[in-house]
Amino acid sequence: MDAATPRSRTEISGGAHTPRKHDSAHKHVTGSADYIDDMAEPAGTLHGYLGLAERAHARITAVDLDPVRAAPGVVAVLTAADVPGSLDISSNGSGDEPMFATETALFHGQPVFAVIAETRELARRAAKKAVIGYEDLPHVTDVRAAMEAEYPLVTEPLKLERGDIEAGLAAAPRRLQGEMRIGGQDHFYLEGHIAFAIPGEDDEVTVWSSTQHPSEVQHIVAHALGTVSNAVTVQVRRMGGGFGGKETQSNQFAVIAAIAAKKLNRPVKIRPDRDDDMIITGKRHDFVVDYDIGFDDSGVIHAVDASFAARCGFSSDLSGPVTDRALFHADNCYFYKDVRLVSKPMMTNTVSNTAFRGFGGPQGMLGGERMIEEIAYALGRDPLEIRKANFYGQGDDPEGRNLTPYHQKVEDNIIARIVEDLEASSNYQARRAEIIDFNENSPVIRRGIALTPVKFGISFTATWYNQAGALVHIYQDGSIHLNHGGTEMGQGLNTKVAQVLAEEFQVDLDTIRITATTTGKVPNTSATAASSGTDLNGMAAANAAQQIKTRLVAFASEKFNIPEDQVAFEPNHVRVGNELLPFGDFIKLAYQARIQLSAAGFYKTPDIHWNRATGKGRPFYYFAYGAAVSEVSIDTLTGEYQVDRVDVLHDAGKSLNPALDIGQIEGAFVQGMGWLTTEELWWDNKGRLRTHAPSTYKIPLASDRPKIFNVTLAEWAENRKPTIRRSKAVGEPPFMLPISVLEALGMAVASIADYQVSPQLDAPATPERVLMAVERLKAMVSEAYMSGEDGADA
Ligand code: MTE
Ligand code: MOS
Repeated sequence: MDAATPRSRTEISGGAHTPRKHDSAHKHVTGSADYIDDMAEPAGTLHGYLGLAERAHARITAVDLDPVRAAPGVVAVLTAADVPGSLDISSNGSGDEPMFATETALFHGQPVFAVIAETRELARRAAKKAVIGYEDLPHVTDVRAAMEAEYPLVTEPLKLERGDIEAGLAAAPRRLQGEMRIGGQDHFYLEGHIAFAIPGEDDEVTVWSSTQHPSEVQHIVAHALGTVSNAVTVQVRRMGGGFGGKETQSNQFAVIAAIAAKKLNRPVKIRPDRDDDMIITGKRHDFVVDYDIGFDDSGVIHAVDASFAARCGFSSDLSGPVTDRALFHADNCYFYKDVRLVSKPMMTNTVSNTAFRGFGGPQGMLGGERMIEEIAYALGRDPLEIRKANFYGQGDDPEGRNLTPYHQKVEDNIIARIVEDLEASSNYQARRAEIIDFNENSPVIRRGIALTPVKFGISFTATWYNQAGALVHIYQDGSIHLNHGGTEMGQGLNTKVAQVLAEEFQVDLDTIRITATTTGKVPNTSATAASSGTDLNGMAAANAAQQIKTRLVAFASEKFNIPEDQVAFEPNHVRVGNELLPFGDFIKLAYQARIQLSAAGFYKTPDIHWNRATGKGRPFYYFAYGAAVSEVSIDTLTGEYQVDRVDVLHDAGKSLNPALDIGQIEGAFVQGMGWLTTEELWWDNKGRLRTHAPSTYKIPLASDRPKIFNVTLAEWAENRKPTIRRSKAVGEPPFMLPISVLEALGMAVASIADYQVSPQLDAPATPERVLMAVERLKAMVSEAYMSGEDGADA
């Protein structure tokens, strides 16, 4: 990092568009990356633990915490009465999420109190000693049951409508109705939730929080303490994964650590066990999709009337925006002429569900893809043909086949090319024919293949969230300090933003030091979410760099008495006229001339707007596209399966870092595959989550990855919008590529009835569910055989 290190004159190392490893990769794998629980604890640090309600829905009649207070090592017990400010930790200010339950327990596992003790183990043991009295109330945990019981909605539903749905359905030559159930998902970040609060002077407190949203934690902690935001500093160096699970769910832990720290004037750390983390914090929403579709004999969709009901849990949290995004993605790549989509954000007596990679988009898209699959089986065609027949038009489609249900025009549609390229490179047609042949002669093992596309809208639908800030300093020796409002959770955001800065200043990547995100350096940040981290913070950092460069150019022009256009940032050097100065030497001169070498950058996404009341607008700046072909084999006697091969072609625009982007695609694919196959959340009839550890909840293992896994970026792709170096967001869109795995499993199942019956495989397609689907089709085939009907092979 020192100025003496030789720096190339011809090329920088680690600029934009170069494949560079994650800046912390070596630290992640050697255990030297610091997470909050690795920080040296100041003397006197105490540890918190939460005491939880043990009823799904009940009036709390008595709370006896004396046994907790009497337990060894206990220093304090906190209940709602100890909260100096607001008890509400809801991210949307709705007031529906108390940090501690007081009169009523709304889900099994809801925090009722916190205990603070000398060690974490003592706190954990003490928390179990509370004696709480309950008077049970009727409870509902399932989405369908909530609808039947007319349980309330947690927030206003959304309706997207275009055309005349009744007429469209009535006029369509063919019509079908159905239901799809889609399971939720636990985030299973490797580092669970944690917060560490260190009290300061007056009302000040610093909170280290594993959060995607430091500014929100700051504001909520300030409210809980009854103070203002300038008293609270929130810091995040990195998370061991967030995946949406730390967008709002960190609030709970941060406020309790902060309240205890201020009350006791000692540092307080709180970290739940994995089981408690899974029980206390929200997950992906389960959905029930009801659809009624009209189409014609060529498979073209005329009309779609569908509702998307979600298990939201006891409070609203992000369920409004999540169910909205489900509707925004129910069309995926397809034009629906007459359409009505409605959301039903159902309250349930379960933990409040929250953001999870794709933010409802995956559930919406899966519903849309189920409709395509149904049409294909009804017509006896390859689902891929139905997909192609319904793709949005391109550019200014003369027939207007490029208008979404939310009245935004699809202007950057490249899905036809992506699918065509992938179909050829994966040899889809020949392999499909071979698989159909294979299945005909294979009594037990059946195979399936499917190609599914993805179109994902980029931008927060809460328009004001689409802003970011950055702070850049150049020190006298030419080394650069980078800070921005985004948070690092493994996705490589910091590396990409540093690459942007390296490119701007034309210096090697290791000239730039990435620093912890802190509300003290960049204020009023948005959550690092909606895949927008690089788009927003990369632009803000570039803006800061440009401000400094403008000053440096003016300085050089004056000092060397040359026109400004003779000053240029060249690799690790600055050219002033005919002279080439090493970057560090040039910076020293600028410093001595009293040039300000620090700048705060800012960016806001242009051209977006959204009116939720009318269901019209332009919520997305652009779309990211991709497609995958998955091939699977199933054992029809046990329901077990494996994913034999996956080919992906994905659009990351002009990728800022192809190595990281491919990593994001691989990771998202495997995570999405887990959601659709083995990860099953299960609540018992008492409303207890029974799948709350890796022993009962199965995330994909390294051995579950596709045996052949070819991931390619569409090299020719480029963002038509002027995003940061024409790249596209990549964090979430590839999560939906494994819909192809579910559909390939469906095809293998459908082979039982000669592909004449829609397999209707719900998610997650656990081996159990695959076996049940196989049995259902076997029964249909044998019934048809007994009754002498034609059409199914015996
Ligand atoms: N990748 C890793 N390794 N860990 C994560 O927690 N979160 C995902 C995605 N990729 C995540 C990840 C989610 S939900 C989002 S919204 C984006 O990263 C957020 O980061 P970005 O906006 O910088 O892409
Ligand atoms: Mo990602 S679900 O937007 O944090």
